[in-house]
Amino acid sequence: MKKTTAAITAVGGYVPDFVLSNKVLETMVDTNDEWITTRTGIKERRILKEENAGTSYMAIKAAEDLIQKSGVDPTEIDFVLVATATPDLMVASTAAYVASQIGAENAFAYDLQAACSSFLYGMSTAASYIESGRYKKILVIGADKMSSIIDYTDRTTCIIFGDGAGAVLFEPNEEGFGLQDEYLRSDGVGRQFLKIDAGGSILPASEETVKNKQHYVYQDGKSVFKFAVSNMADVSALIMERNNLTHEDVQWLVPHQANKRIIDATANRMGVAPEKVMINIDRYGNTTSATLPLLLFDYEKQLKKGDNLIFAAFGGGFTWGSIYLKWAYNSK
Ligand code: UT7
Repeated sequence: MKKTTAAITAVGGYVPDFVLSNKVLETMVDTNDEWITTRTGIKERRILKEENAGTSYMAIKAAEDLIQKSGVDPTEIDFVLVATATPDLMVASTAAYVASQIGAENAFAYDLQAACSSFLYGMSTAASYIESGRYKKILVIGADKMSSIIDYTDRTTCIIFGDGAGAVLFEPNEEGFGLQDEYLRSDGVGRQFLKIDAGGSILPASEETVKNKQHYVYQDGKSVFKFAVSNMADVSALIMERNNLTHEDVQWLVPHQANKRIIDATANRMGVAPEKVMINIDRYGNTTSATLPLLLFDYEKQLKKGDNLIFAAFGGGFTWGSIYLKWAYNSK
């Protein structure tokens, strides 16, 4: 009997219209375009300005884009996974709301939080459900409204992050396309380096925590950089080796967009040429759970059936990993 694999069969995306450029950031904090560009590769990022709109607003738009382009019937979707570090509300599942709003009335839904690796881990979850034979159509959405947790007076974080959402549909494949292999890791040593101190169960919100700005992202950038650069490169090289892939066999590296220097180091270690590396950090910054699906959204037209894609991510926690996936279709 042929093995059932889990293939990506459709892609959608959404970024807000409002552009926050490096030039504008220069007027907000003590920074400059040259520093941001050379240290991170970012030129601008998108910010969601709509009132009373949270992460679900963008997740719904990305899902609707996918549904409209692919023609998939939302009532046939079995499971909606929203990968996010910025859910709409504490406790209530953002995914459940998104599923209802897009008409996925027969689906179950939940959120997956693994910081910047949320979407990568979500791909693994979706693929396992499909491979088990239990479900046939799974929508995985990566969405984050990072602007809701950023202190725009802190130059070490406000220059990095942006808002956005991307979505993919996973379906069973009998021709061997889709997810081939994965290597997922985590290490709790990382929690001190990238976090929000207050608003969780250790330190609930209080007047004091608000006054101390403890509801914003804190990052020890240098430390995170060191871990990210070595671990993302390690797992990407490892997944190539154990699948007997040389750089010539890899058509695309799909790396988390945290820092252009981390992306370059990963590509170098894999021996993959720059033209095979998906990049949009210059336009969107780090959109956390949305970076990987937004890359697919931007590059979909260039992807060909049978292309070998290596996904790699690194995020808070720490969480990281890589996935080897064979692309299943030619774009129309
Ligand atoms: O996606 C989740 C995982 N996250 C990551 O992978 C992020 C990893 N870290 C990074 O990408 C980088 O560490 C940053 C982009 C966050 C920072 O770049 P860096 O090259 O590590 O800079 P640094 O923190 O070592 O700071 C170098 C200098 C410092 O000044 P001194 O001490 O040398 O005088 C900073 O104060 O740059 C200064 N600096 C800035 N200058 C202008 C820090 N932020 C800025 C800024 N503009 N925005």
